[in-house]
Amino acid sequence: MRIIRTKNYEEMSHAAANLISAQVLLKPNSVLGLATGSSPVGAYKQLIEWYEQGVLDFSQVRTVNLDEYVGLNKEHDQSYAYFMRDNLFDHVNIDPAKTNIPDGMNADGAAECARYDQVIADLGGVDLQLLGLGVNGHIGFNEPDDHFSCGTQQIELTESTRDANKRFFSSIDEVPTHARTMGVRDILQAKRVVMVASGKNKAEAVKAAFFGPITPHMPASILQYHPDFTLVADEDALSLL
Ligand code: F6R
Repeated sequence: MRIIRTKNYEEMSHAAANLISAQVLLKPNSVLGLATGSSPVGAYKQLIEWYEQGVLDFSQVRTVNLDEYVGLNKEHDQSYAYFMRDNLFDHVNIDPAKTNIPDGMNADGAAECARYDQVIADLGGVDLQLLGLGVNGHIGFNEPDDHFSCGTQQIELTESTRDANKRFFSSIDEVPTHARTMGVRDILQAKRVVMVASGKNKAEAVKAAFFGPITPHMPASILQYHPDFTLVADEDALSLL
């Protein structure tokens, strides 16, 4: 495990964008595993800037997103499909046909999860997986549990996650109760994993996940086992170490 310590969110975003950019430069048809939420937005902005400057070309890049809420269609402004278009895809030359996100509207949850695992398998796995960190230690929407999950699964969001995400909705009642997420095994199988963590509210989780025991009650802790895991975190997120 490597830790890149940065002063603040901007530096964290720049460092993470550098790692993603290097991946795309070295392998133009990379499979990028992408995350939503506040943490990666700055990195996406930086990638867009480099694309506009002609430094980066996304034309061959393929993507698989970590997760999607159940019950939100692609046009809903809080769906992760919308988020990705808004924060990255609509601003670079990525081919929409090469982007993948679990379908939150497929009424058959099990079939959708199986389909998504097949999508990942058909792509040959993920070259670089970008992650954020939940305040409860979740990765993707793999919430604390008694065991680590395997493939894509439909999960019930914990109250703490719904509470953390209610800032994006007009009230907590509108936050979906379920999501579909790549499993922990899927994440661990990525060749390289990069996590971005910023802010004091992530400090407890950073300390427990990367300086505590490996346990499914702190899902991110399993990344201690990953052979190529880089945590890019700012001083606030590292403040309890
Ligand atoms: C998002 C995801 C989540 C977030 C995590 C942190 O696709 O899978 O695990 O990365 O909840 O969210 P933020 O970055 O908003 O603090």
